[in-house]
Amino acid sequence: LFAGLRATPNDPIFGLTDRFNKDTDPNKVNLGVGMYQDAHGAVPLLKTVLKVENGLDAQGLPRPYPPMDGLADYNREAQKLVFGADSPAIAAGRIVTAQSLGGTGALTVAADVYSAASPNHAALVSSPTWANHIAILQRAGYTVGTYRYYDAQRHGVDVDGLLADLSAAEAGTVIVLHECCHNPTGYDLTREQWDAVAQLARDRRLTLFIDMAYQGFSEGLDEDAETIRRLVADGLTFVVGSSFSKNFSLYGERIGAVHFVCADADEAERVRSRVKTAARENYSTPPLHGARIVTTILSDEQLRAQWVEEVTAMRERIKSMRRALVDGLNAAGVHDMEFINTQAGMFSYCGLSKEQMELLRTEHHVYGTDAGRLCVAALNPGNVDYVATAIAAVRSA
Ligand code: LMR
Repeated sequence: LFAGLRATPNDPIFGLTDRFNKDTDPNKVNLGVGMYQDAHGAVPLLKTVLKVENGLDAQGLPRPYPPMDGLADYNREAQKLVFGADSPAIAAGRIVTAQSLGGTGALTVAADVYSAASPNHAALVSSPTWANHIAILQRAGYTVGTYRYYDAQRHGVDVDGLLADLSAAEAGTVIVLHECCHNPTGYDLTREQWDAVAQLARDRRLTLFIDMAYQGFSEGLDEDAETIRRLVADGLTFVVGSSFSKNFSLYGERIGAVHFVCADADEAERVRSRVKTAARENYSTPPLHGARIVTTILSDEQLRAQWVEEVTAMRERIKSMRRALVDGLNAAGVHDMEFINTQAGMFSYCGLSKEQMELLRTEHHVYGTDAGRLCVAALNPGNVDYVATAIAAVRSA
């Protein structure tokens, strides 16, 4: 039956975890997959999440089918977190929010819906980007190209290249952008650079798909959503995919949201019908558990305040690990990697080649992606110096 089926290559991120799990070295460190780990190397169960779960347990709630676009209360809370509680666009009923299966599910539904709305099935993603962006769009029938983004020489964003590539895109082209904590590089656009992108999007009628998987991991929950809120205020219509995998540490619950900023409430209703159809045809209805946890926390003032503290602690710990890695590298004789402190979020593009990344795995049992992405959110006081020494050794090999 499957005789003619060829195997697909291993996933560049989850495939690494498979390899890491088979490694028996006691010093092994997994900096591959983007999962935050605490100071003891564990993926945390947030205190607020545990509290709510215990409450939900005691209530013994039934599990009916939720609506195709998810729980209404959840969608309201997810929407407020992204666009601000006082957003005039929310009040005007022109933002459609639907619960999604994490950030991947958000982008999948967005691509399905937008492909029905636009005859132009071209998309551009940053070079480089999260590999799944390309796969998701191609699956939805898009031809995916890249716009220039990473400037290896200057350790930052190639803004001129980016603007030139967007200027050359045809009207209706989907442009995938990372709101904050760019995955994989860690380099984000400044406010002025975003303004230039917004201007181009307006002038050339480009469609922005903004991926916000790391809200709260750069500067703060509101700060990290600032660009989106400004784009809405400027009258742009676009799509946002948001995720609670990271900021609620609910990776395995597949809980996120897709938001369509529409021209008016009438357009929004039509979009909502398409979203429901896309959900129904893909997975029917989203799961309840994660949505109940997130809704309970975001709608309770006290729980929400505690959760904000937990997000702050995660963000600060990541920053402290960046500093510790740079200190460790300096101590190991590497003095040109200070740029790690200028990056934001969970990832650092460290500049090592594919061969060096492989050496890091085979010789030192430190796992990052082939492209040189390290998940600095998985560093801790017990492994950071080991990792720094390993990087130094690989660089001088
Ligand atoms: C990552 O980039 O490592 C995470 O977003 C996990 C994933 O789904 O790839």
